[in-house]
Amino acid sequence: MKKEKRQGLKAVYPGTFDPVTNGHIDIIERGSVIFDEVIVAILKNPEKEPLFSVRERVEMISHTVSALPNVSVDTFDGLLVDYAEKVGAQVIMRGLRAISDFEYELQMAMMNRRLRKTIETVFMMPNETYSYVSSKLVKEIARLGGTPAGLVPLEVEKKLRDRFENE
Ligand code: PNS
Repeated sequence: MKKEKRQGLKAVYPGTFDPVTNGHIDIIERGSVIFDEVIVAILKNPEKEPLFSVRERVEMISHTVSALPNVSVDTFDGLLVDYAEKVGAQVIMRGLRAISDFEYELQMAMMNRRLRKTIETVFMMPNETYSYVSSKLVKEIARLGGTPAGLVPLEVEKKLRDRFENE
């Protein structure tokens, strides 16, 4: 990558966020300190069967990050690198919780680099409190009547309770 002094470093933080967890929020907060602008980009993936609609996910994240002025929430489909280029982002931001995340993340980062060598992937580690938190486990806990308190924003906790209450 050519070394250039850039102004206005913009990062895209892509993901499914079904739902957003406190681990994701931790990464967003870290990113908002490092980058001038962070766009949380929710993948509109018709192949996956999400628990929450794209609209609900946008609302939950927007509500949680409303105090961070340089963070916005958007949706995308198609290739991530095309989206990043369209919005003028130089960086793709991803969280790494454990070694087990690494192989998948490395593969994606390398593939994205092959597709668009001008866009750099930057990894960040969340606070260790969230190193074992995933959207999948949070949904399982809520579905089985447990409480995901402290693992997800309050708004998400309520939504999960509502969703599984009548099951
Ligand atoms: O939160 P997730 O599900 O791990 O996020 C995965 C995501 C959305 C980052 C990834 O699936 C993605 O970028 N999809 C867009 C399609 C794409 O660009 N594929 C090639 C990347 S290797």
